[in-house]
Amino acid sequence: DASQIEIYKQQVGKVAASLVTSGMKVGLGSGSTAACVVRALGKRWQEEGLRFIGVPTSVDTAHLAQSFGIELTTLGKCPELDLDIDGADEVTHQHYHLIKGLGGALLREKIVRYAAKKFVVVVDERKMVDQLGDHTPVPVEVTPFGWEATAKHLEKIGATISIRLKKESQEFFLTDGANMILDCHFGLITDPAKLEKEINEIVGVMENGLFIHCTDEVLIAGHDGIQHLK
Ligand code: A5P
Repeated sequence: DASQIEIYKQQVGKVAASLVTSGMKVGLGSGSTAACVVRALGKRWQEEGLRFIGVPTSVDTAHLAQSFGIELTTLGKCPELDLDIDGADEVTHQHYHLIKGLGGALLREKIVRYAAKKFVVVVDERKMVDQLGDHTPVPVEVTPFGWEATAKHLEKIGATISIRLKKESQEFFLTDGANMILDCHFGLITDPAKLEKEINEIVGVMENGLFIHCTDEVLIAGHDGIQHLK
């Protein structure tokens, strides 16, 4: 149930936060599990005097980190990071391929991931799958200009699209970078590396939520405790 999942997220957040040591440059992910990592880091910052520099992947994460006094910077000032820790919506047992972006931060998350030497993903056991696409669409971040034409191209490569709307109104959801999100259902994805490239070749697409061959470690919280896969 929901409270058990919340406990899993807090447990995995604490273990992930223990991977950070003083002096590191750290990418801070987005979403509710990554927020548990930031809270656990905030606790270490305040109680142990842990000192590192964070690069946030979203405005929400920046605000949360600042609420603990965590020092933040940008990739402009700090283009190479030691570690990036982030959540995911689906993770494959083999290769640790990911779908990310149900929270809408995928473009910044991917930029920060590729600026880091090491990428650790934090999830609870519900996120583990054999093959991507089973129950999660691939979020595609598109520039608003001519998005209808971009959507047509996505349909041509097999996507069934739902336009992401704000929860509280029928307006378009906009990312921190003022782009739209088209949630693209492809069914089970047999060749995620090929699909990641195919989507990004479409004009108007900024980025998509497939993270392929780029995860170094996964921390999974579940009924057996925490599994640390490397
Ligand atoms: C944010 O854009 C996403 O990529 C998140 O990492 C993902 O949605 C996981 O979020 P939760 O930890 O809230 O499930």
